[in-house]
Amino acid sequence: MTETAPATLTVPSHVAIIMDGNGRWAKQRGRPRSFGHSKGVDAVRKTVEAAGKLGIRHLTLFSFSTENWNRPADEVGALFELLKRYVEADLNTLDRRGVKVQVAGRRDDLSPDILEIIERAERQTADNTDFFLTIAFNYGGRDEIVRACRSIADDVAGGQIDPARIDEALFSTRVDTAGIPDVDLLIRTSGEQRISNFLLWQAAYAELLFLDVLWPDFSPAHLEGAVREYAARDRRYGGVNAGAA
Ligand code: IPE
Ligand code: IPE
Ligand code: MG
Repeated sequence: MTETAPATLTVPSHVAIIMDGNGRWAKQRGRPRSFGHSKGVDAVRKTVEAAGKLGIRHLTLFSFSTENWNRPADEVGALFELLKRYVEADLNTLDRRGVKVQVAGRRDDLSPDILEIIERAERQTADNTDFFLTIAFNYGGRDEIVRACRSIADDVAGGQIDPARIDEALFSTRVDTAGIPDVDLLIRTSGEQRISNFLLWQAAYAELLFLDVLWPDFSPAHLEGAVREYAARDRRYGGVNAGAA
């Protein structure tokens, strides 16, 4: 994962993707939703590799939301099984390529086998620095913000933090993505145009891109097109551009 992107492109440092549309993809083929999810894993593999080649350093993938517990138990089970199988199958390859794997999301309601695999992935790749892959699993933006607040409140109650010192920089150290830069480009596949509780804090100034492709059909060419679109955007952060009247 050391190739660099074409020099003319402004490459986003952090790309986050809401991988949506697996169920519709399967339905179009008369297959169960779980078939779409397992095809989605192939798209994950290709996307991780393509992101490194394009010069993206941080990739965050939304794979299970705190709201996805509302799905039928067999689908939830299939999604958990897929995370396990993906990590088991790909961890050594990711590690060899210098990928640091981190998992964002709440952990207190995950089963020991899932926790074990998440912790193993994080431990094994902890010292890697070539590429940063964050899997948002059992993740909700509001839940993350509440957990961050609670952790700060604990320190205030314990006397370690003076409330006057709480600012955006301190808060950023308490979210699950601490140490990872804010999202530059947020992509959602499947044509839906909503955030669905993803990275509410980190995507405050992200460029949003909604694509009419179902996740299992998402290819490196789509990612490259998204990076091109990003490069053509004008990020102002509330200010004005140099040269503006
Ligand atoms: C995205 O695909 C995967 C997850 C949310 C886990 P969906 O399962 O939401 O597919 P659609 O949106 O129903 O087509
Ligand atoms: C968002 O997709 C969650 C993931 C991709 C993991 P959903 O399909 O769950 O979102 P909604 O229900 O369309 O908002
Ligand atoms: Mg969906």
